[in-house]
Amino acid sequence: MSLLLSSGGNRADIARLYPLISRRSIPEQLEPNIKDMELLGAVSHQASKHANWWRSAVIYQVYPRSFADGNGDGMGDIKGITSRLDSLASLGIDAIWLSPFMPSPQKDAGYDVSDYTNVDPLFGTLEDFDAMITRAHGLGLKILVDLVPNHTSDQHKWFQAALNSPEGSPEREYYHFKDGNGDLPPNNWVSMFGGPAWTRITNPDGTKGQWYCHLFDSSQPDLNWENPKVQEAFEEILKFWLDRGVDGFRVDQPHAMAKAVGLPDHPYVDRAGAGFIEGEESPPMWFQDSVHNIFRRWREILDSYPGQRAMCGEAYVLPLSFMALWVRPDEFHQTFNFRYLDALWNAESIFKTVNESFEAFDSVGAPSTWVLSNHDVIRHASRLGGDYGRATASDGIGPNAPQPDLELGLRKARAATLFTLGLPGSMYLYQGEELGLPEHTTLEDKYRQDPTFFRTSGNRVGRDGCRVPLPWEAGVNQSNGFSTTGAAWLPQPEMYRNYSRDLQEGVSGSTLEMYKEALKLRSDLDLGQGSFEWVEELCDQDVLAFSNNGILVIHNFGETDIELPEGKEFISSTTDSQQHLVLPHETKWLKL
Ligand code: GLC
Repeated sequence: MSLLLSSGGNRADIARLYPLISRRSIPEQLEPNIKDMELLGAVSHQASKHANWWRSAVIYQVYPRSFADGNGDGMGDIKGITSRLDSLASLGIDAIWLSPFMPSPQKDAGYDVSDYTNVDPLFGTLEDFDAMITRAHGLGLKILVDLVPNHTSDQHKWFQAALNSPEGSPEREYYHFKDGNGDLPPNNWVSMFGGPAWTRITNPDGTKGQWYCHLFDSSQPDLNWENPKVQEAFEEILKFWLDRGVDGFRVDQPHAMAKAVGLPDHPYVDRAGAGFIEGEESPPMWFQDSVHNIFRRWREILDSYPGQRAMCGEAYVLPLSFMALWVRPDEFHQTFNFRYLDALWNAESIFKTVNESFEAFDSVGAPSTWVLSNHDVIRHASRLGGDYGRATASDGIGPNAPQPDLELGLRKARAATLFTLGLPGSMYLYQGEELGLPEHTTLEDKYRQDPTFFRTSGNRVGRDGCRVPLPWEAGVNQSNGFSTTGAAWLPQPEMYRNYSRDLQEGVSGSTLEMYKEALKLRSDLDLGQGSFEWVEELCDQDVLAFSNNGILVIHNFGETDIELPEGKEFISSTTDSQQHLVLPHETKWLKL
């Protein structure tokens, strides 16, 4: 893999092509430091010769509860997904990642699995799954399923057996059961959803028992990955789904699986909760080195199957140079680029993030992934319409919080998407973003389901607002065609009707058509496998521009128009502005 500092020969050509660029005048004191790009380490990136589908794939996240309901009960299901696969194929994606649909008490919307090798009756049957994957493959779409290895549901048979077995028994060894410090938990760890990361059990005879560890909800006990039986069981789970034809896995919370020996206190827990402070030593519940051998074994299993099976780790590991260790050639194929998701949407922050991404991932020969929304963060059409900070630091907007400016949010979201789709690597889309769907920010508390809301007594509203069922056909019923009956497990806000897919289909300038056009171009021009270079002459404090496989991508983060030379061949844009202008919060693709 080559990583070139951007001092290449085509800089002069670019300057010749765009000599007439007129910039807004920038006050002296605000002269951007990104102008001196080499100082900040501007990088370029050349695609690897070893092309594999996952290196450039556009992967669409289906959140089964909210995608499409096939039986009218208000809960999305697998038959619903199958019935709408054509619309995903026509969008132009390569693969689908399905959030969990396995049997689960649904305490954390399915991320609390009670049986890893089946389908929850809420979503259908294994036969429904088989029919779905056959149809998806027939349409040329790959299927990735979510694997949740850090914790099970407390209803899983392993945990039930542990509860019914004595201290020190092999059954308890599947989890982290420990004696407390008197009446206090074994250590100071806190749950990501709020409150302590330990819950004390009551013995069958009514006496107080040991404590078990849960980095998330108390209904999600953490597995003990030191136990070879846990390791073996998961290898069988992988094979079960691979045998059924899945093209790979999205792996939940892999950085949490291995814990420091002896489960010591978290040294920074007061400052960082259960989280991570960049630059400081790894907290005892995250990023432990021993986890890498597990992924190496999983990679061997995936590689032993025909076709290119791939796994993407939800590894919240920073800095990116550290994350890159997770995508070495014998580990994960991809990780989510949380640095990008979390970057504030301004030129300097995006410039640094893109540089760091190529630098880190190129160093191990892995593709970068890019993502702007998922089921855990505020949808970017709303997040960018207000001052909500880092994506992963804020979960949800409640009715009493400052409300987003939806028009500005959508304008910025479309521009952010078109900018991101121009980058080489693999792109993750979250269902509904192709409609420009905003967050539901006025959901009444009585509908809330996210454990975060309950574990923080409502202080954090949680993630329900980005998980609301999709509107398909405007006005056909109360849920705009999400279900046949109008039922929906979370009610849509009134405005969702206006974002319905049928209102956008075939309508030039709609967000849906913008996505379709960009995905088609991305594929036709092979941008996912392309070569990236900043076009330095066009970059400044409010403007980022780069080239990739013969196109120029330019994004205006500022508030003043940018003028381009007349006559450049237009490819795509997020507004209907004139060809020679890039308006505030617009992205354009032009021919180089
Ligand atoms: C991941 C999932 C999130 C879930 C958590 C615990 O971050 O994306 O939805 O709550 O893991 O499984």
